[in-house]
Amino acid sequence: MEPLSSNDNTTDVFSFQDDEELSNRLQFIKEIGCGNWGSVWLCELKSEDRANKRPLATKLVHRNKESKTSAARVKSLWNEMKIIRRLKSDPHPSIIKFESFLLTPSYAIITMAFHPDLVTVQVSESHARVWFKHLLSAIQFLHSRGIVHNDIKPANILLSAKGIPVLCDFGFAEAYDLGSSAAFHSRFAYGTPEYLAPERARGIPHDTRKSDIWSLGVSFFEILVGRTPFESSDTDQCVTEEDLQKYWGRTLRGKWVGSWKMSKGMERLLKRMLSPNADLRCNADEAMQDIYWAQMQQSNHVNEHRKAFLNLRGFCQILSLI
Ligand SMILES: Nc1ncnc2c1ncn2[C@@H]1O[C@H](COP(=O)(O)OP(=O)(O)O)[C@@H](O)[C@H]1O
Ligand SMILES: [Mg+2]
Repeated sequence: MEPLSSNDNTTDVFSFQDDEELSNRLQFIKEIGCGNWGSVWLCELKSEDRANKRPLATKLVHRNKESKTSAARVKSLWNEMKIIRRLKSDPHPSIIKFESFLLTPSYAIITMAFHPDLVTVQVSESHARVWFKHLLSAIQFLHSRGIVHNDIKPANILLSAKGIPVLCDFGFAEAYDLGSSAAFHSRFAYGTPEYLAPERARGIPHDTRKSDIWSLGVSFFEILVGRTPFESSDTDQCVTEEDLQKYWGRTLRGKWVGSWKMSKGMERLLKRMLSPNADLRCNADEAMQDIYWAQMQQSNHVNEHRKAFLNLRGFCQILSLI
């Protein structure tokens, strides 16, 4: 692991000689997510007095000096930490807030803000569009700072106690130097298969901002409809190589399957985000400027005026009764 630069404020990155330091600091309450790489726990800081205790989420990887996979996982957690830590002093409400990184002989741990739920799917458009605006703004924010997420999907979108969607899991994220001609260029194909843009699935050179927009479009569709646009039901599985090739064949043609219900404006926006030709696909700025948002604002105004009119009419009726 390369050290953090010396002018970094390192008081949120700790290395301990002893595993016991962990149990002195953190109260582990319950496991909330797990994978082969490790697990995510709900925790509290022991140092905080009872009245000020707040929940924390910790992403924990086991260290095993003998194992190459363990070293790769710790490295990946370190990269994830470096990216979300960069945003600590430049936060966005829809991006997970980093708290600290702890390294002990047996564990590497990120601690971060805890959010109680995952985003739900099959929700009404009036509900979902508020989340979509938050998430688009988060992606626009990341891209403008040279960061791509590379694994956007509903399982990586939490919901805060206030109902705001929060993007987590920066395990595949990359940070580019905005001044470099290589910024946002990639030929990697990793990510979650169902959410991979066609050009990324094929591992051909691509702009990772555009592949993020694709994954966000697939996620938006799933939040509205309960499945991705390229599977006919939510029980379709991409298990075998053949399933995957069939699925990616549909993404390549941009062919949505099955039936779906959403407004024409939303459908148009999603089609722009899901253009199989990355050159024709909108970027985050363009998606934020899409006519859908202006129309929504207009219809909100009309509804407000209508409500005000109905209130006034009710008031006049009451007056006429007096
Ligand atoms: N900050 C958090 N607050 C609450 N739950 C979380 C948080 N971070 C992760 N989780 C839960 O843990 C799961 C796995 O975490 P994630 O960072 O996505 O790791 P993985 O690499 O396994 O996908 C998430 O899908 C979510 O359910
Ligand atoms: Mg995840």
